[in-house]
Amino acid sequence: MTDRYAVFGNPVGHSKSPRIHALFAAQTGQDLSYEAILAEKDGFAAAVDAFRARHRAAARGANVTVPFKEEAFRLATRRTPLAEAAGAVNTLSFEHDGILGDNTDGAGLVRDLKHNLGCDPAGRRILLLGAGGAARGVILPLLLEGPAELLIANRTEETAARLALEFARLPGCAVGVKPDSIGFGDLAGRGFDLVINATSAGLSGAVLPLPTSVFGPRCIAYEMLYGRDTAFMNQARESGARVADGLGMLVEQAAEAFFVWRGVRPHTAPVLAVLKNAS
Ligand code: ATR
Repeated sequence: MTDRYAVFGNPVGHSKSPRIHALFAAQTGQDLSYEAILAEKDGFAAAVDAFRARHRAAARGANVTVPFKEEAFRLATRRTPLAEAAGAVNTLSFEHDGILGDNTDGAGLVRDLKHNLGCDPAGRRILLLGAGGAARGVILPLLLEGPAELLIANRTEETAARLALEFARLPGCAVGVKPDSIGFGDLAGRGFDLVINATSAGLSGAVLPLPTSVFGPRCIAYEMLYGRDTAFMNQARESGARVADGLGMLVEQAAEAFFVWRGVRPHTAPVLAVLKNAS
């Protein structure tokens, strides 16, 4: 019996996840299938139920993408600490007595930084741009790496302040650095080793009001979006920073999910190379 997995989203037609997981399965010799399922905006739980009813015991898990990650959090009957901190779930495991919800996005970002880009967050000064779901999902995994500083900047400063306070109070963050917040207007003269764009500004082509000083010498500028050259990436490039987009994070979060489900860690480099060549 072939084990069944799927990614649920809306839209989901563009998803690279079926390709990535097919490559992982072939590489590791795992017998599984993985499909993309378009769920109605108000029909996420029903779509998951239908998938499980269709495949019964063969339905083993799912990935969840926009806009259902918060709903997946509520659907899960048990959640990992990373999912709890993120307030969102991107990986579901269907178990005999319930559904385990995990969030592999932050681990995917950290692995991409450390293993693909040679940028260990430990000891680095990190500027995180944005205070929405994408930012929230990566804060705890970054803090656990022991950065020298984690500053959250957001257009709406108050949201960044609330987020920083929430994570500063997390018991797991009692040791090490506590995140802090700042408004874009107060960034002048500040420099960082790693600047991560977790805003959705790149989707609308909006330019973030960033002073060039934020991109310190040997800085890595990380755009969490992929498949497009954003204004943030251009700003960073012009300031002399090394630029990366979120394709590596996409592949690494998928590898983490694959590991959660199968207990096997696939090699990501050949898969990343295939996707880069295809784009
Ligand atoms: P996501 O789940 O992708 O993080 P979200 O929760 O809607 O989406 O959050 C979007 C983030 O991008 C927010 O931090 C938002 O800033 P505000 O809190 O001020 O809304 C940020 N963002 C979106 N468009 C932006 C723009 N044009 N300039 C600056 N920040 C922007």
